Amino acid sequence: MIHNGIIENYSQLKKELTNLGYVFESDTDTEVLLNFIEEIKKNNNCGLEEAVRIALKRVTGAYVILLLDEENPDTIIAARKGSPLVIGVGKGEHFLGSDASPMLEYTKEVVYVNDYELAIIRPDELILKNLGNEKLTPYVQKLDLELAAIEKGGFDHFMLKEIFEQPQTIYDCLRGRLDAVAGTITMSGIQQYADQIVNANRIVMVACGTSWHAGLVAEYIFEELCRINVEVEYASEFRYRNPVIHKGDVIIAISQSGETADTLVAIENAKQKGAIILGVVNVVGSSIARTSHGGAYTHAGPEIGVASTKAFTAQLAVLTMIALKLGYLRGTISEERYRNLLTELEQIPEKVAWTLQQSEHIKALAEKYKDARDFLYLGRGYNFPVALEGALKLKEISYIHAEGYPAAEMKHGPIALVDDQLPVVFVATRDAYHEKVVSNMQEIKARKGIVISVITEGDSHSTDISDDVMIVPEADEILAPMLSVVPLQLLAYYIGVAKNLDVDKPRNLAKSVTVE
Ligand code: AGP
Repeated sequence: MIHNGIIENYSQLKKELTNLGYVFESDTDTEVLLNFIEEIKKNNNCGLEEAVRIALKRVTGAYVILLLDEENPDTIIAARKGSPLVIGVGKGEHFLGSDASPMLEYTKEVVYVNDYELAIIRPDELILKNLGNEKLTPYVQKLDLELAAIEKGGFDHFMLKEIFEQPQTIYDCLRGRLDAVAGTITMSGIQQYADQIVNANRIVMVACGTSWHAGLVAEYIFEELCRINVEVEYASEFRYRNPVIHKGDVIIAISQSGETADTLVAIENAKQKGAIILGVVNVVGSSIARTSHGGAYTHAGPEIGVASTKAFTAQLAVLTMIALKLGYLRGTISEERYRNLLTELEQIPEKVAWTLQQSEHIKALAEKYKDARDFLYLGRGYNFPVALEGALKLKEISYIHAEGYPAAEMKHGPIALVDDQLPVVFVATRDAYHEKVVSNMQEIKARKGIVISVITEGDSHSTDISDDVMIVPEADEILAPMLSVVPLQLLAYYIGVAKNLDVDKPRNLAKSVTVE
């Protein structure tokens, strides 16, 4: 048996099996499950498939299991709950995995198995059943990914390739949806729930990690454009807190992989309480996408690097379009501002391309600061979540400790950290908060701190104060995060490379956290 996930009630099952005389070689929940199935098979004098079906009705947790027995060596029994399972359909062969990308070189036809489904797979046969032993019709999806899309394309690492793909991926995200000339935003997965969203009393963003940072940026955007109450929740907290959810609340689940266990369970719980679930997801056909009522794909293509980069900016592009559409429908945004933002949003891909031209300069900064022990990342308003994201990127790629803070929070304690060894990165693009951020820079300089700033082109004042700068083009503050994050992605990448670390597969991390 192959098992990915956690059997939560394994100790109870282990106790029952031990009382029946079973002896265990290991402490794993996997061995308990295997013996549990074995016991059922013997006790009920049934085949493996039936034994698995009966066993899974008692098992709780998140899992994918694949079983093979010596009586039927050409048959694999597979089941999942809460963890992803994809079956690649080949010619006279099948492939099983948690993601479709690696199957691309063998087949473009896949079947996504749902929770509480059982698959019986033989080389030339695929049968899908529910736990009630009823046959289901497998829905074979055609993958529109190309093999080239998952190769490095000449870059040293997937992460660098994906950072440089962002002009294209943001463009792909907008294409077919944003029409600045006509002044329209077309998102069918949102349109069908437009009335509920327009009349919602609040929106709750639910996500983890980088996707949670995208939700924080969206909180500022939605409150500014739609004048609606927005809350941003860590999915892992939201799922266990028994949150107050009213029928008609709108939950936006943000996820690159669409398989993050905490986010998936959080929206399953919210859905049962009557909320409308919208998914902002990258992987087509993923569990979160299929659990959501509606939503919009980010179309960033496969993100192979463990550190999320292009998915983050694509999430921001989608969330900005949803907010613009919602603000327009609610009448909380003027026609002029609406039109201006559409036009500016359309220009973001080329502004990201402009920003990427500084990669050699940022590589030099990485060389200069790679041995720092700690970093602080500071920002205000729309750039505060970007500061958090910049700190996360550095942590997960270079293993250097970094913290993100609202810039104004420094005086409430963290400024005690400042000395002449501490680089403080300011996300300080020109916006309504700019003058105050400049004051914060001066406070750091006065305490001998090192100031590295992400600034808007032409901001000579911040340049004079800073030890080093990274420049982005002028943009409306609502759209600036899609630009200001790019230098921070590059800084983290180049510091990781300068420290000879595995930037595509950092230690301790997984691309998709499908277990709790
Ligand atoms: C991002 O760089 C991290 N690898 C991680 O925080 C990630 O964003 C988080 O696990 C959420 O993943 P998801 O977007 O696939 O749900």
